[in-house]
Amino acid sequence: MASIQIEGLHQRFGTFHALKGLDFRIEEGEFFSLLGPSGSGKTTLLRLLAGFEPPSQGRILIGEEEVTHLPPEKRRLGMVFQNYALFPHLSVFENVAYGLRAQKFPKNEIQGRVSESLELVDLPGFDQRDVHTLSGGQQQRVAFARAIAPRPRVLLMDEPLSNLDTRLRNQTRRQLKELQQKIGMTTVYVTHDQSEALSLSDRLAILFEGEIAAIGGPEELYNRPPTERVGQFLGDINVLECAVLRKGNDASFINVLGAEIETAATGEKSTIKVGIRPESIAPAGIHPFEMSGVVDDVQFEGEVWRLIVNTHDQPIRISLAPSFRIDPPKAGQDWKFSFSAGSIVVFSNHESG
Ligand SMILES: Nc1ncnc2c1ncn2[C@@H]1O[C@H](COP(=O)(O)OP(=O)(O)OP(=O)(O)O)[C@@H](O)[C@H]1O
Ligand SMILES: [Mg+2]
Repeated sequence: MASIQIEGLHQRFGTFHALKGLDFRIEEGEFFSLLGPSGSGKTTLLRLLAGFEPPSQGRILIGEEEVTHLPPEKRRLGMVFQNYALFPHLSVFENVAYGLRAQKFPKNEIQGRVSESLELVDLPGFDQRDVHTLSGGQQQRVAFARAIAPRPRVLLMDEPLSNLDTRLRNQTRRQLKELQQKIGMTTVYVTHDQSEALSLSDRLAILFEGEIAAIGGPEELYNRPPTERVGQFLGDINVLECAVLRKGNDASFINVLGAEIETAATGEKSTIKVGIRPESIAPAGIHPFEMSGVVDDVQFEGEVWRLIVNTHDQPIRISLAPSFRIDPPKAGQDWKFSFSAGSIVVFSNHESG
């Protein structure tokens, strides 16, 4: 187990600048995700960590050791990728033993390590099965077992669940989380699926166009995204341009849908952008600030009712859990809803897109 330190890391492919100066640290034992849209540089960063290619600039440390120019086999990492890349002609045992043999583990230790790893991924007794007789989820768990068998310092995973269907993905996700908690191995997990990153990670970094847009814990980033774009990437959020009513040194008051809300000081600006998540809005009578609007659209989606309510010339998206036990309003109806000051996110002044 080890920490990872990334310092001033750049990657260029010809004139294309794929990673633009990354600086951050992943703590020992942490489950850390890299989340970003397609092409943002997630796999590029993982490949640098793995040692498949050298960076154009910068340093990578694993624990106390600088590994920037070490080949992959000297870094003591485990890897799991999207296409599990098991050897189809070998048994489960031989697949899991593969890394152990490559690293010249003593023969008498291999049997124990393979059994132990298969037990960890909840596939005890699968040793002699042919890989091609396993389900997709089972194959992916064999790939995990193979990666952890040599007890690497760090586990690197690139979209390991994306080949599985939704149900299996959710189930394997839970198993993966349990597994990581059991063995406590430092894990770097690449995904473009925000719910996967939120549910699995201790912390995550959000990557846009080769730059880190935000870094933090799942709840912190979801509830307090620093920018509009980060907020939107993590889930639906209403973005409102609000007039600043009064400015002070320590606090300002802004107009949010007619309600006067206190915020941190807003500087010289006359308007600021804020966000409010659809699920933090409730029917009237629940939160302190109430307003009314005209219902534009109502959709039932099982877990939630999704409403669009027009108020102050803006469509506001609201999701209501059926547990509110109200009859949802109908389109065209006047309807009252409420929110609290605490659910208003004030975006930073340095909005980038
Ligand atoms: N060897 C290469 N040569 C040239 N360009 C490359 C190379 N590898 C990656 N790129 C470019 O760098 C950018 C980042 O690619 P990367 O594979 O890291 O994205 P990603 O975030 O993993 O995306 P996805 O979610 O689609 O897997 C892309 O624009 C890609 O085309
Ligand atoms: Mg990728």
